[in-house]
Amino acid sequence: MTDRRGASGGLRGDLKQRVKTGRGRTASQKRWLERQLNDPYVARAKREGYRSRAAFKLTEIDERFKLLRPGQRVVDLGAAPGGWSQVAAKVVGPSGRVVGIDLLEIEPMAGVEFVTLDFLDPEAPGILTGLLGGLADLILSDMAANTTGHKQTDHLRIIGLAETAAAFAREILAPGGAYLAKVFQGGTEGTLLAELKRDFEVVRHVKPNASRADSSELYVLATGFRGQAGGGA
Ligand SMILES: C[S@@+](CC[C@H](N)C(=O)[O-])C[C@H]1O[C@@H](n2cnc3c(N)ncnc32)[C@H](O)[C@@H]1O
Repeated sequence: MTDRRGASGGLRGDLKQRVKTGRGRTASQKRWLERQLNDPYVARAKREGYRSRAAFKLTEIDERFKLLRPGQRVVDLGAAPGGWSQVAAKVVGPSGRVVGIDLLEIEPMAGVEFVTLDFLDPEAPGILTGLLGGLADLILSDMAANTTGHKQTDHLRIIGLAETAAAFAREILAPGGAYLAKVFQGGTEGTLLAELKRDFEVVRHVKPNASRADSSELYVLATGFRGQAGGGA
C-alpha cells in the first residue's frame, strides 16, 4: 500500500475522532462524518483557505505535469464548490481566464466566471466558449454523476460525462492544449481512449495521493492537443 504521509500535511499522527450514533444519523452518514473529521486533506484545505480537499488533487497533478501557466484560458467542468478553480485562478493570474460550470450554484470568486448549468445542456458549450473569449489551453473535468448504486449504470454515466467533456475539448482546445478528466477504475473506455490517443500526443492515467486510496477514482490526462483536425481526419 502507498505510504501517503508527507503529502497529506503530516497530520496522520493525530488522534482519530469518532462520531456518536444517534441524532438521527444513519450509519453511512456517521462513516462519512468520521472520515471528514479524520481526513488530513480536509484539515489542510481549511487551514490553507481552499474550498475543497479536491484542490490538492489538481495541485499535485499540476506539480507533476506542469499543466497550469500564467495567462492561460482554463475551463473547469463540475467546478463546485470551486477548489480546482481556485488553484487554476492563482496560477493563470489576471492575464488568464478561468470559467467554471456546475449544476450547483457556486459562491463568486475573484478571477473566475461561474455558470450554473448542466454541462450536458446543448447550450452549455456555446456559453462556456463565449465566456472564455477564445480557444482554451486547458479543459479540466472533475465532474461526477450522482451514483445510483447500480455499478454498470454509474460507470456508463461517468464515462458519458468524460466523453462529452472530451468532445467539447476537441472543439475548443488550442493546439498544444490539455484535457484532464475524472474517469474512475478501469480507466478510460476503449473508444474514448483511442480518440484521445489520436488527438493528443500523450495520454496517461493519474491517481494523485490526495485521491482517497479506497476510492476507484482515477484521472485521464491528455496533453499536446494536435489541433482541430484531430491529426487523423
Ligand atoms: C467532485 S465535485 C467537483 C469538485 C471541484 N473540482 C472542487 O475542487 O471543488 C463534482 C461536481 O460535478 C458536478 N456535476 C456532475 N454532473 C454535472 C453536469 N452534468 N454538469 C455540471 N456539473 C456537474 C457536481 O454537481 C459536483 O459539484
